[in-house]
Amino acid sequence: MERILIAGCGDLGTRLGRLLAADGHRVWGLRRDPLGLPSALEPLAADLTRPDTLGALPAGLTLVFYTAAAADRSEAAYRRAYEDGPRNLLAALAAQGQSPRRVVYCSSTAVYGQEDGGWVDEGSPTRPQGYTGQRVLAGEGWVAGGPYPATTVRLAGIYGPGRTRLLEQVRRGETRRPEGLPVYTNRIHSDDAAAALAFVARLPAPRRLYLAVDDEPVDRATLLLELAGMIGAPPPPSGPAEPGRGGNKRCSNRRLKAAGFRFRYPTFREGYRALAGELGLLGGGAASPHS
Ligand SMILES: NC(=O)c1ccc[n+]([C@@H]2O[C@H](COP(=O)([O-])OP(=O)(O)OC[C@H]3O[C@@H](n4cnc5c(N)ncnc54)[C@H](OP(=O)(O)O)[C@@H]3O)[C@@H](O)[C@H]2O)c1
Repeated sequence: MERILIAGCGDLGTRLGRLLAADGHRVWGLRRDPLGLPSALEPLAADLTRPDTLGALPAGLTLVFYTAAAADRSEAAYRRAYEDGPRNLLAALAAQGQSPRRVVYCSSTAVYGQEDGGWVDEGSPTRPQGYTGQRVLAGEGWVAGGPYPATTVRLAGIYGPGRTRLLEQVRRGETRRPEGLPVYTNRIHSDDAAAALAFVARLPAPRRLYLAVDDEPVDRATLLLELAGMIGAPPPPSGPAEPGRGGNKRCSNRRLKAAGFRFRYPTFREGYRALAGELGLLGGGAASPHS
């Protein structure tokens, strides 16, 4: 049985924690307000930006995940969540003489600044255009340079239960299909995101870096059209592309799949269909144009 800490245990961390607890491990969920965590997780109230609150981590941790997110969109919040937090946590672990076998840092494909719609993978250069990607990338550096074996998982845009904004916007007719060249979007269902984090931690010899993204980067225009078809909403009208919307790249999951990971929702079609079904939105009845 492992002793596992999930630092910043929100939506993704909780999904991950449930998977690990179901494997028979002891799992602590750390957040400032841990009261709502499910009973499978042991709550740990602490603030990753305040070292004085990190003094009594559970002893003998064997595995640590870092899944905290910024509290708001400001650069200061990103710095706190992705730099101060990991740095403080690593220092606290070291000060307590802990020796986890691995620290898994949850990062983002926002660390890529590519704009040409080409493929990127773990070997591609990272030149994030905005401070969000820059701060997340800096956090990768803190964890990779820390005292413990580290693996970074760069997640694409997460959707799933509770993350239904795009589907709702399509339903309300609030989206526009970008005109011109394809603008790619990279996605992963939250269940697959949590499963991917658990998967890499279970590998006997994980690599230092994985991209976690589904099989099909899809251009935004196609995505919106297919979602509209799926829920029987009118096709979104076309309009000028919104500039700088998360870059324009296609993220490859080849390394993760080569390691043996299998997606429950290999593309947005399976994932959004499940989500739309849960929300009772499939009643529009219209099948996606390509299914
Ligand atoms: N959303 C996406 O599309 C996406 C894409 C790529 C990567 N990611 C990454 O996925 C990870 C998890 O995201 P999520 O959606 O699960 O976020 P979330 O639901 O907002 O959870 C983040 C958790 O971090 C905790 N937290 C924040 N600041 C903290 C602090 N100072 N001390 C202790 N806990 C703190 C929050 O709890 P309290 O407020 O109670 O402290 C919250 O429970 C993040 O690293 C995010 O960057 C997300």
